[in-house]
Amino acid sequence: MNVKDVNLLTENQEYIKRLRAWNEDCEKQTGKRRGVFVTTFGCQQNEADSEKLTGFAVSLGYVPVGSPEEADLLLVNTCAIREHAEQKALSTIGQYKHLKAKNPQMLLGVCGCMVTQEHRVNDIKFRYPYVDFVFGTSSLHRLPQVICDKLEKGKRVYCPEEKEYLVYEGIPIHRENSYRAWVSIMYGCNNFCSYCIVPYVRGRERSRPSDAIYHEVKALVEEGYRDITLLGQNVNSYGKDLEETCDFADLIARLSEIEGDYKLHFMTSHPKDATHKLIDVMTGNKHIANHFHLPLQSGSDGILHKMNRRYDTEKYLGIVSYMREKMPDVAITTDIIVGFPGETEEDFEATLSILERVKFDMIYSFIYSPRKGTPAAEMEDQIAPEVQKKRFERLLALQNGISLEKNLPFVGKTVRVLCDGVSKTNEEMYSGRTEEGKIVFFEGEECDKGNFVMINIKRAEAFALYGEKKK
Ligand code: 5AD
Ligand code: SF4
Repeated sequence: MNVKDVNLLTENQEYIKRLRAWNEDCEKQTGKRRGVFVTTFGCQQNEADSEKLTGFAVSLGYVPVGSPEEADLLLVNTCAIREHAEQKALSTIGQYKHLKAKNPQMLLGVCGCMVTQEHRVNDIKFRYPYVDFVFGTSSLHRLPQVICDKLEKGKRVYCPEEKEYLVYEGIPIHRENSYRAWVSIMYGCNNFCSYCIVPYVRGRERSRPSDAIYHEVKALVEEGYRDITLLGQNVNSYGKDLEETCDFADLIARLSEIEGDYKLHFMTSHPKDATHKLIDVMTGNKHIANHFHLPLQSGSDGILHKMNRRYDTEKYLGIVSYMREKMPDVAITTDIIVGFPGETEEDFEATLSILERVKFDMIYSFIYSPRKGTPAAEMEDQIAPEVQKKRFERLLALQNGISLEKNLPFVGKTVRVLCDGVSKTNEEMYSGRTEEGKIVFFEGEECDKGNFVMINIKRAEAFALYGEKKK
């Protein structure tokens, strides 16, 4: 088994002791605790890792602060999924140069997927000399050691990638939110879709033992968390590497027996592994959200084959029809990549026609971005950016109409919404999400934040519902 079931606080005891003493000294001298801030790019898995990094830093004597300007330990947790994500991270690291100039004592570290690639570590080495340390996804547990090395030896630290990616338990988690939580159930990916960098930067699939997950979720429900998302690159292969016999359907069935007022969500599923057994467990289960995110990527069998997705559109449509048969009002969302190498007009139209047929509630669409070291980046027939952009716009236009069509039937209905407080985009309204993941705007009260409220829907748009609180 791959699980290194050690308590990281115990394993790092020596470093933790030294850093706590160092931070306490600082507090005595300045009257102020050193602050930690993590800037996060990318997916929910990265958000979850950042909560672990902050928790780890708290155990070292740092206190979480609200902005990079206030930080004495500033970490940039990077993403590598598309070129744009890497450019954003690099530009943010560039902007932090002036913070380092203002506060030379500040430690600046870069971690995550981008710097699990050698060429990006070299970029940091040569183009960002003020970065103090770099560690990839396999060395997250080395944070205390990396800080100690930097402080004691004075040199920049480049943490080598571990030979083996393990599952570590025991890192304290500093959760950003008191009612929505992420719970990683597995790490890594074995699928090697030909466009995707994830298997190279997050290693092979490793599942956490089901008991550890059960206890974490139970504790969250007891603390009052309402919305818990189980995370993994391909949750449908959960448990395949464990000695215990527990697949994803078994796991979520067991978790949903926990008593309380909460919903379980999960992401992401791979269509090649999505089972009828999982859909059967979801059907009628009051604790599992009425939502399935099932990335299609392309509606052309030829392109799916070149993407190494290992399913065809017939298989995909089969899962959708079983789901709709068992859970008629389930919300289905998907990911689509536009402009994959060799995508012809006909291939693209096949994607549009699946969108029309399935009628997804929402899609997350991406323009294909070549990733160094992946097979697709070497394919000959790369698509011109203008063609990609035009197709992307056509895809969005079609889906906007479908999303609106899916949202209109909610008008006149009452839906249960988990309130997120005052909306960030419209400060006169409160916002929240239904269990299907739909955004709802309404007039609310401060005490609604973190609670379920019933909303009468008055109006629908493609990306949001608008309503009033039920009296
Ligand atoms: N280019 C564009 N989109 C990508 N994705 C993954 N790799 C790439 C890439 N190289 C998309 C897929 C995946 C989502 C998380 O990101 O659609 O499901
Ligand atoms: Fe990437 Fe495919 Fe793994 Fe998803 S399943 S993380 S797209 S390789």
